[in-house]
Amino acid sequence: MSTKPDLLVISPWYDVAMKELDDHFTVHKLWESKDKAGLLASLADRCEAIAGATACGADIMDALPKAKVIAHHGVGYDGVDVAAATARGIKVSNTPDVLSDEVADFALGLLLATCRKIPHADRYVRAGKWESEGNMAFTQRVHGRKVGILGLGRIGIEIARRCEGFKMDIAYHTRSQKADVPYKYYGDLLSMAKDVDFLIAIVPGGASTRHMINREVLDALGPTGVLVNVARGSVVDEAALIEALKDGRLGAAGLDVFEQEPKVPQALKDMTENVVLQPHQASATHDTRLAMGRLVMENALAGLAGKPLITPVN
Ligand code: NAP
Ligand code: 8YV
Repeated sequence: MSTKPDLLVISPWYDVAMKELDDHFTVHKLWESKDKAGLLASLADRCEAIAGATACGADIMDALPKAKVIAHHGVGYDGVDVAAATARGIKVSNTPDVLSDEVADFALGLLLATCRKIPHADRYVRAGKWESEGNMAFTQRVHGRKVGILGLGRIGIEIARRCEGFKMDIAYHTRSQKADVPYKYYGDLLSMAKDVDFLIAIVPGGASTRHMINREVLDALGPTGVLVNVARGSVVDEAALIEALKDGRLGAAGLDVFEQEPKVPQALKDMTENVVLQPHQASATHDTRLAMGRLVMENALAGLAGKPLITPVN
């Protein structure tokens, strides 16, 4: 019989990092189990640690009444019922900081890809259109433009720093103005959207940010405006976004996240020239996913040892 503590893993992450769990835990893979209720019942009297990369609801917590810690893979923990965990005395952690530069790099990449139509241009060359039709139509400049960042936390500030490199005029909207930040603050998202060329969303998901980017905000960005969403699909009213793009009331969108992942509306897939679609991959490099996976492991170990979590949420 193994002396390693049990760890219930609800959903997987980077396999290299997951293998390292075996050095410390007896890992139980819920997503692979054909009898999930049976697995949970077999662990009910002893499993003190839970980890996962998607959702963790009260049902799992109730199934494992000995749980002390939920180590979430991801800085955004909108899928974890933190109130339910706190009410049960369970500590929750996430994976902040280790991914901020990666996600910021990706946000700028998505902005460039969208404005300069890089995926569309790639398809243009492959389809032989350069030879048959000549040069592609011109695209939108990125450097020197006005960018509004929705959310200026750990990742938002890194996005802003990169935008400085592109000589952009930088503004941001958050609920509270940030100290020691040289960028223009807007207490109101709509006013910012009216003033900028590009809007980059990098706020947490959840009820307080749901559909913040709505029809009015999209109209304020306007026919040449560009939306980049690397936050959560829930932050944007996707139906309103599709209508705005179809009507030409919004110029273009670069999207890494969607309301019903991994489902992406066909209407967005059909818009091949002014929409760039990505499979929620802003943090998905080997290096960053290894760092995130190790942080999950360290948090789970700390929680089991009764020590303060490395990156606590509650
Ligand atoms: P963070 O450090 O907590 O920053 C969040 C920022 O959002 C803060 O500036 C906060 O400022 C602002 N904010 C929160 N609620 C708001 C609201 N209702 N209205 C306006 N602003 C609000 O988080 P982070 O580490 O930068 O990560 C941000 C989010 O990015 C994550 O929660 C996750 O959802 C998303 N993300 C996505 C990917 C991806 O793969 N695409 C990867 C990593 C992260 P105030 O508190 O002053 O409002
Ligand atoms: C991950 C993310 O794709 O950290 C987050 O909030 O959205 C991404 O880094 C996701 O959490 C995978 O677990």
